Amino acid sequence: MYKHLKVEKENVFTVITINRPEQLNALNLDVLEELNQVLEEEGKDPSILVFTGEGEKAFVAGADIAAMKEMTPLEAEKLSQAGQIVFHKIYQWPLPTVAVINGYALGGGCELALACDLRIIKEGTRIGQPEITLGIIPGFGGTYFLKKVIGEAKAKELILTGKAIKADEAREIGLVNQVLPRDNFKEEAFNQVRELGTKGKKALRAAKLVLSGDFEKVKSGLERERTLFAELFTTEDQTEGMAAFLEKRKPKFKNK
Ligand code: COA
Repeated sequence: MYKHLKVEKENVFTVITINRPEQLNALNLDVLEELNQVLEEEGKDPSILVFTGEGEKAFVAGADIAAMKEMTPLEAEKLSQAGQIVFHKIYQWPLPTVAVINGYALGGGCELALACDLRIIKEGTRIGQPEITLGIIPGFGGTYFLKKVIGEAKAKELILTGKAIKADEAREIGLVNQVLPRDNFKEEAFNQVRELGTKGKKALRAAKLVLSGDFEKVKSGLERERTLFAELFTTEDQTEGMAAFLEKRKPKFKNK
């Protein structure tokens, strides 16, 4: 039914797997549209949601750079908006959401994880917001949610340097809740979700409502991020940053 997603249901939870392993599960508009559809569908009878990536290598390696390279600012704003809408729906999901981070969680992947309530990561995995190395900034809520989750100092460090940190460090700074061994990673992570599913749904819903209820603040943070994200698509640095990635070389920024 979905081209880029797998949707599997268990008793108390639904697993949504981003399924573009050849592009390391990078997010383009089609994937975001399918995510939106699946959330609409699941919203009719919500269960706990689990997000993960297909394959061993990546959870999600970011927004699709090949698709973004030639985008106009207007198209970039639309992409940002599509991502923000989906991730905000996940943030406000009435029951818990869990990111099972089976590999690289970069850019939009880190943002997808941040939109979830709980983050479980495979040992050795790297997570971060490398957008600055492409001449842009996070555009799917990262600037707002990273600061909220790990505080201003660490959020600035990760976004300004673009460095991706390893699972253990991510755990130390509170970016993820838990690091699990490589062997049987997904099954062990799903066991944690099964445990979560033994809690009463009424109380889980009430907890989610109070914890994720600051809608107005989130909205203004996201709007500001989206405007600045789109503006960067007028720059030569954005074109150079993305061309360099796709040509597998270092970018030469001219600050234009
Ligand atoms: N968008 C589009 N394609 C991507 C992608 C992305 N975000 N991330 C990886 N890919 C593609 C690569 O272009 C490559 O395609 P190819 O086989 O046609 O050349 C394929 O996925 C495998 O990636 P590759 O870079 O060759 O793997 P690697 O093991 O050398 O490096 C990463 C893995 C994750 C470190 C590297 O792919 C990377 O840095 N990705 C981009 C991360 C990023 O900047 N995300 C933020 C985007 S806003």
